[in-house]
Amino acid sequence: GTTLGASAAEKGRYFGTAVAAGKLSNSQYTTILDREFNMITPENEMKWDATEPTQGQFRYTSADQIVSHAQAHGQRMRGHALLWYQQEPGWAQSMSGSALRSAMMNHVSTVAAHYKGKIYAWDVVNEAFADGGGGGRRDSNLQRTGNDWIEVAFKTARAADPGAKLCYNDYNTDGINAKSTGVYNMVKDFKARGVPIDCVGFQSHLGGLPPSDYQANLQRFADLGVEVQITELDISGSNQATAYANVVKACLAVSRCAGITVWGIRDSDSWRTGENPLLFDSNGNKKAAYTSTLNAL
Ligand code: XIL
Repeated sequence: GTTLGASAAEKGRYFGTAVAAGKLSNSQYTTILDREFNMITPENEMKWDATEPTQGQFRYTSADQIVSHAQAHGQRMRGHALLWYQQEPGWAQSMSGSALRSAMMNHVSTVAAHYKGKIYAWDVVNEAFADGGGGGRRDSNLQRTGNDWIEVAFKTARAADPGAKLCYNDYNTDGINAKSTGVYNMVKDFKARGVPIDCVGFQSHLGGLPPSDYQANLQRFADLGVEVQITELDISGSNQATAYANVVKACLAVSRCAGITVWGIRDSDSWRTGENPLLFDSNGNKKAAYTSTLNAL
């Protein structure tokens, strides 16, 4: 293929990007988006603070713009993210206990129901594990409602949109380490007990080459019977082109690796300001990392 999306499709994979609704009026942006990418993740528009800014009042305008764009251009959607300890609306930040637990699950069921049938995969829960060597849960007001909040969220999402794949998504889980093993043990437990989970997202915000056990880590999750997805790829550093190619090769080597999403289109679109971690420069030109990615697909 001559584009990322078409080449990935030839291998039975997708190639996606994060999209900001406010940039859909920029023709340089949409030209690249619609030429290269066949999966879209809203960068911020489906987060809790965006979709339920006031408790019980749901606002879908910006997210719906992205979904409409995707539908008009034959792109699929990853939903991101139903529950995350960051970008909670202010009203939820100050809640706790059973009131927060009901608000969380009402959020999951209402948003998943609004997008029923339109989402390939949902990040139901984002970043719920702690960094460091403990392998345990991250402290948050969500976690303090009870350790079962993750499985209740997955069951609630399944009931609201039975056709969407339900993913757990995190960062610093790219190699085999205490944090990824904590996630691995949760997924293994969910599969054993019949808690609905279909996929694990590896954000892959990298500062150079992926860890040497990147492919082995994807494979151990795949061997639990879940799909694996690279969900927020961006890579800084001088070996960027090689690093991107290595990520692509690792995904292609794992049959259950469904696809790769980069976290933005041009370097000027990146949340990692000044790091130039993406595949297109700020003028929309293809970088060496673009070519190495395409060649690896
Ligand atoms: C980032 C967005 O790119 C920024 O625009 C926003 O200010 C903060 O969030 N992990 C995630 C993403 O799951 O949602 C984050 O996106 C990057 C880290």
